[in-house]
Amino acid sequence: MNMKHKRLEQWVKEWAEWCQPDAVHWCDGSEEENQRLLDLMVKSGAAIKLNESKRPGCYYFQSDPSDVARVEDRTFICTSNKEDAGPTNNWMAPDEMKRILKEAFRGCVKGRTMYVIPFSMGPLGSPISHIGVELTDSPYVVVNMRIMTRMGKAVLDLLGSDGEFVPCVHSVGAPLQPGQKDAKWPCAPIEKKYISHFPETNEIWSYGSGYGGNALLGKKCFALRIASNMARRDGWLAEHMLIMGITNPRGVKKYIAAAFPSACGKTNLAMMIPTLPGWKVECVGDDIAWMKFGKDGQLYAINPEAGFFGVAPYTSMDTNPNAMLSCRANTIFTNTALTPDGDIWWEGIGYDAPEGTITWTNEKYSKESGKPGAHPNARFTAPASQCPVIDKDWENPGGVPISAFLFGGRRPSTVPLVYEAFDWKHGVFIGSVMGSEVTAAAIGLKAGVRRDPFAMLPFCGYNMADYFAHWLRIEQLAPDKTKLPRIFNVNWFRKDSNGKFIWPGYGENIRVLKWIFERITGQADAISTPIGYLPKPEDIDTSGLKTTPDQMKELLSVDNSLWKAELELIDEHYTKFGNRLPQALKEERNKLAQRLQA
Ligand code: GTP
Ligand code: SPV
Ligand code: MN
Repeated sequence: MNMKHKRLEQWVKEWAEWCQPDAVHWCDGSEEENQRLLDLMVKSGAAIKLNESKRPGCYYFQSDPSDVARVEDRTFICTSNKEDAGPTNNWMAPDEMKRILKEAFRGCVKGRTMYVIPFSMGPLGSPISHIGVELTDSPYVVVNMRIMTRMGKAVLDLLGSDGEFVPCVHSVGAPLQPGQKDAKWPCAPIEKKYISHFPETNEIWSYGSGYGGNALLGKKCFALRIASNMARRDGWLAEHMLIMGITNPRGVKKYIAAAFPSACGKTNLAMMIPTLPGWKVECVGDDIAWMKFGKDGQLYAINPEAGFFGVAPYTSMDTNPNAMLSCRANTIFTNTALTPDGDIWWEGIGYDAPEGTITWTNEKYSKESGKPGAHPNARFTAPASQCPVIDKDWENPGGVPISAFLFGGRRPSTVPLVYEAFDWKHGVFIGSVMGSEVTAAAIGLKAGVRRDPFAMLPFCGYNMADYFAHWLRIEQLAPDKTKLPRIFNVNWFRKDSNGKFIWPGYGENIRVLKWIFERITGQADAISTPIGYLPKPEDIDTSGLKTTPDQMKELLSVDNSLWKAELELIDEHYTKFGNRLPQALKEERNKLAQRLQA
């Protein structure tokens, strides 16, 4: 196709010679190409076309039971010095990793087609956007990348004869012998999977998995792990954050960005329907934010993605109608259950599974068996443009101005519903010590609360201590410190003594956003506590809510003894970083200890 870009052509040629595909296909991103690949997968048995009258243009996939989520154990940051990957990443020297993977990639596309996917993270041609090219032997990856990124011929045209691109090599690691029947979901066993990043040369090599962040390389691998390195070098931010607009009843609009760990509520918050009259929420992005200072001194954010790769279970017309409407057509469903009339189903969708429903493991579903219909990390891949509340500026190449950052996670105790940082440094401290109960978004994690700083634990592409330093440096880089986003922490997941969530969550979260909105517009008071500024219980608008004043008190309580125990966990967490931990954060830690003593 495009043979103008000699370097790209040469790179593809070398990998094709090495991986020995039956054919090489340059993706143009067209509707015809997409349909051809989907038809091919239906024919091979990899995909099922869903009922056209219920789910037009939608397809259903079941993965291999061993390949259902990100694999953090098998994810590597390959830098010359181990310290540059830091204590929170798996490390291997670039040469060593390349030696292992070269061997694995040798002939690994035999019997398959190698697809060349040129893609843009961010609107085509925006100064904030970056281009990548993914080589993959998975047509499932191609049709997903077409939803999640801007992909195809237009990107090649933009690259011209010498444009920069991040080379991303992907294989499911399952070559086919002549005559061998393909698996429904080909992949390699867990110990053969490698999700590898080479930040010093901006390269990504991913082998053995076909699922989500392991395989859609524009997302976590590029837009977070590689981009966090670029951002550090060039003074911007690449974060695991949703971006949303909030408009108050008087028509004043503010944008905020929020970092919650995987499966902790970003998609839900980003497109929620507020229960308070007159308030409006609009969605810019649900997973990743790239942010740079504008000429006016404000921080501006773009969503580098073009689609949602959203958690399906517990998404319903009650909890998240806008997500349900986003995936009503032209959507790929992976590892949900399948109903006999060709629709999808999952736990928490809001109605019982019809008789004859098939589980994600392709068995007959029965509630009594205790086996879930959908895998807990079942996902929908839906075009962002289909979201009913997509923001009018979601593709604005200049981004949207950010007034506040929210941090948060699943904390059954200790952390109140909401609090505000005293200042930027304190906010960076709060981000650096974030904790959350682990979810199904990654394979093989121990249950319980783990530290997930800035929700970036699995996604920071360099030493996390240096990442903290980068966040501290942002205050210095800010053209006008008074325009820096204010920093808040939220926790929708506090539980009562019966293990039930106290806060109703979802659309009711607007009540907390209202307080945050009024803090940033100078309209709401706060009380100073050892951990930060908190609303008084009566400062949260609970009109029409069943939550009792006692429950509100509990949600907003700060228990000094629990926080002293938290301090020990923070110390344990900080110890990992040794003397690379920024002095300013040690000081913040000590100031918190003093305030808890007083
Ligand atoms: P990734 O795509 O993995 O990065 O996750 P995410 O942060 O976008 O998570 P998502 O919004 O998909 O939420 C995951 C789960 O959290 C879903 O099962 C939701 O039902 C649940 N959840 C989201 N918001 C709330 C809330 O306010 N309260 C409660 N109790 N649960 C919530
Ligand atoms: C996450 O785990 O944070 C996700 C899903 O957004 S994946 O793309 O698989 O990483
Ligand atoms: Mn995510």
